[in-house]
Order: sequence, then C-alpha cells, then structure tokens
Amino acid sequence: MANTAKNINRNFEDSLLNSLSKNKYFSYSDEGEMHCEGVNISSIAEKTGTPFFVYSKKYFTDRFNLLSNALHGTNFKIFYAVKSNYNLSIIRHLSSLGAGADVNSAGELYRAVRAGVSPASILLGGVGKSAEEITFALEQGILLFKVESYGELIQIDRIAGTLNKTARVALRVNPNVNAKTHPYISTGLAENKFGIPLEEAEIIYQDKSLPNIKFAGVDMHLGSQIATTEPYAEAIEKTLAMCARLREKGITLHHFDIGGGFGVQYDNESDFPFEEFTKTVIAPLKASGMTIFLEPGRFLSANSSALISKVMYLKKNGNKNFIVTDAGMSELIRPSLYDAYHQIVTVNTKNREKKIYDVVGPLCESGDFIGKELEIEAPEQDELIAVLSAGAYGMAMASNYNARLRPAEVFVDGSDWKIIRKRETLEQLVQNEEDCL
Ligand code: LLP
Repeated sequence: MANTAKNINRNFEDSLLNSLSKNKYFSYSDEGEMHCEGVNISSIAEKTGTPFFVYSKKYFTDRFNLLSNALHGTNFKIFYAVKSNYNLSIIRHLSSLGAGADVNSAGELYRAVRAGVSPASILLGGVGKSAEEITFALEQGILLFKVESYGELIQIDRIAGTLNKTARVALRVNPNVNAKTHPYISTGLAENKFGIPLEEAEIIYQDKSLPNIKFAGVDMHLGSQIATTEPYAEAIEKTLAMCARLREKGITLHHFDIGGGFGVQYDNESDFPFEEFTKTVIAPLKASGMTIFLEPGRFLSANSSALISKVMYLKKNGNKNFIVTDAGMSELIRPSLYDAYHQIVTVNTKNREKKIYDVVGPLCESGDFIGKELEIEAPEQDELIAVLSAGAYGMAMASNYNARLRPAEVFVDGSDWKIIRKRETLEQLVQNEEDCL
C-alpha cells in the first residue's frame, strides 16, 4: 500500500492514468476531456450529478481473460471475491465470463444468486458464519463452505443433519506465512484470526465423527495487495505436503483454493507478476493433480473505476492548499483507513500549473481525506476531479456516516453507459426507522 506525499515531482508520463490509457479504459481526448472507454465523463456528470463511481466494462473483461490465460492448460475455476465490489451488474458481468462467486455473508450470497450466479459455483467463507447463514447456504445448495474452526465445522454438521443434507467443506488453513502487506489486510500469519493451523487441520481432516460433512478440498487466503509470488509458493509448498500425507492415509482432497490477494497498480508499482506465478505457484499445483480455485477481488475490480467528484471549494489554511470535494471518506475510506494512495487528476486537463493539495471531503472529521500532498493541475471551483483505482473496496465500503447519501454507480460499455445503482435518497436514509417516541 503506497503512502502519501507521493505525487510530488511525479513525472505524469509514468502515471497510472497513462498506463490505463494505453488500454483505453480511462484516457484524455485531444481536447483534454477524460473519457471512460468511449464516454465523456463530464457528460455523465451533467445527467447524474456527483459524486459517482464510473466503471469500464472492458476492464473487467480484459482482467478476467488475463487471469484465465495465465492458467491456460490447468484445471481451474475463478471465484470472484464479491466483497471487493458487490454491485449486481458487476457480479453478473463476471459471471457471464465464467466466474463463480466467493462470498463472505448471507448478504453477499443473496447478491450473487440475484445476479445470476449458480449456487453450484458459490463458496461461502468467513470466520463467524451464523447458524442462519449456514442454513441459508445449505438451502441454496452452494458448492462448499470454507471452514475456519472446529467449532464451526461441528455447527455445519449439525445444521446439515437437521436439513438432511451433506455439506461440502474445505478447511481454510493458516500456513503462517508473511504476505508482506498492510497489517489490516494480512491474513495468513499465525497471529491473525483467520484459518486453522496446518497441524490442527491435518487432524481435523481425519475426523470421521461428522456424518454430514464431506471434505472436498483445502483453502487458504494470505492477504490482499500482495506484490510477489513468494508468499503463495511458500504456503502452497507447506499445504501440499499436508495434502500428500493425508492422501497416504486414504484422504484425497480434490481442489486447492489459493485465495485472492493479487496486487494491482495504484501508483507506479508493477502489476502482479503472472509469468513467475505460472512457474512457481501454478506448476506445483498442477503437478499435484488438484483443481485450482482462485478468489480474486481487487485484481478484477480496482482499476475498473474512478470516483468522480466536484471541487466545491478551494481554500488555504496556513501553508496548505485544500481542495474540498463532494466525495470523502463516506465514499472512499481506503485513504483514511489504510493510508492508501489513490491518484487524483482533474477530469479536464488544460496544461495548467500544478500545485500541491490535500484533497478532503465534506465530513465533520479530520480523518476525512482522499489524498494528502498530491500534485494536481490547479482546478477551479465546480470542476470535476477523478480519484483513480476506486473499483475495489470503494463503494463496497461506502457508508452513510454524517447521514450522507451513498453515491450513484455508472457502467460504461464502449460508447454506451447506464446507471447500475441510483444515488440514495433522503427518504431511504430513514426508511427502516420507527420514529415512535
Ligand atoms: N478471499 C478471501 C477469503 C478474502 O478475505 C479476500 C479479501 C479475498 C479473497 C479477495 O482479496 P483481493 O483479491 O481483493 O485482494 N478493504 C481492504 C481489503 C480487504 C481484503 C479482505 N479480504 C482494502 O481496501 O484494501
């Protein structure tokens, strides 16, 4: 995860926008107007107002195909991690390309099914699945549960028994590997709450006392925004050794789920090294004969989107220049929560002088910022700005803090666009409340 003060003296030619432009997801026209694919972003803003997330359909398609091609010749299945962006249209599009869904709650499961994903292509994970969620998932007939503790396994066995069903299960192992990412999004270390230690998992797989459980495979997820292949290779080696020992005891696990976490470009980092991944991660898995499952979220969604907002006011406090926009931590919490870097540019570029700004939202909170000390072409009041790489964990983590209305989402397909989620209304803010005192 990049830190702040990064845009200073940046050579704009090397920027993320430039690399996205090469593929025409987001680019400036000759007149300096930003487009998403073939659509002028200002023209969307005129109709929808601001702020809104705009997504490139082609980006999702290209990323899904990139990952599939890297796995060509292996037995694999991609399960889109719905938590990164759970808009129905986005899930539906990825499903139409062949993705299943990795879900973490009854709500995500409901969304995936509503978006047309077959329950037979859905995995349910999560460290604290409730009895209601387990029941719902069994009734839906999902492909399998990723189980994170022995207590949970007993609970699933019991509920499956009462429903007269068999639950397919993969234990989520915790291989105790350092994914070298932000502590909040690292999950594969012994100290994290996630997964079951390998030694314990090996014992559980041999448990014959759970009549309604069928062990189908093994699962891991090491963390998010992982830049290198080493953590995967190390964890897979340890876990395959366990699978081999179990096989000798007559217990065959049919798939290996390596989770998600493949790092993407927010700044000038490189994209995840897929060539090396094929050699050091996929090859040993292929040799094991197990089907490979993957659960990418960010890799498919992060750079699909820009958050478009309006410059409401420009102000100077002491030495600091502030851009006050109509989007803040309620729309994109990643900068406040993880000190994450998102490139911010003006939607119209006019070769103006660049200045250093803090870009802040309208919320009543000092932690409400979407960029600090960024070098940006000096905008004018009422102009549009674009926060890039906003497709993963942007809208999915948006909130109603300060009773703000969650923004609209717009899907672009070539020269067409449509609203895939309307802006919330004031009435919706209070619809579940009983004002009865
Ligand atoms: N599978 C499991 C079990 C996960 O917990 C996650 C993400 C994924 C797959 C997808 O990981 P991805 O491919 O997107 O890295 N809110 C944070 C990220 C949290 C990730 C949580 N788990 C952020 O904005 O950076």
